[in-house]
Amino acid sequence: MIVCVCHRISDHAIRQCARQGMAFDDLQLELGVATQCGKCESCARSVWQECSSVGPTAHIHMTQAHLEGCAWNTSQHLASV
Ligand code: FES
Repeated sequence: MIVCVCHRISDHAIRQCARQGMAFDDLQLELGVATQCGKCESCARSVWQECSSVGPTAHIHMTQAHLEGCAWNTSQHLASV
């Protein structure tokens, strides 16, 4: 499917670049996607994000209590039941 009509860029081309670890800005420089009329940007970003390893990630901050096992200590819960 053609995502960017202005530059005739397909979803396949965007996926290929995303799998290679290319950032969206790099994709724009390399392929020209979303650099003319801009109407394809949201679709192009969605396709890119599906395959990108650069996409958003969750960061979990472990406190000392978590590391010592207090957060997962079920014995206190079971003792009160
Ligand atoms: S459709 Fe992609 S820049 Fe116009």
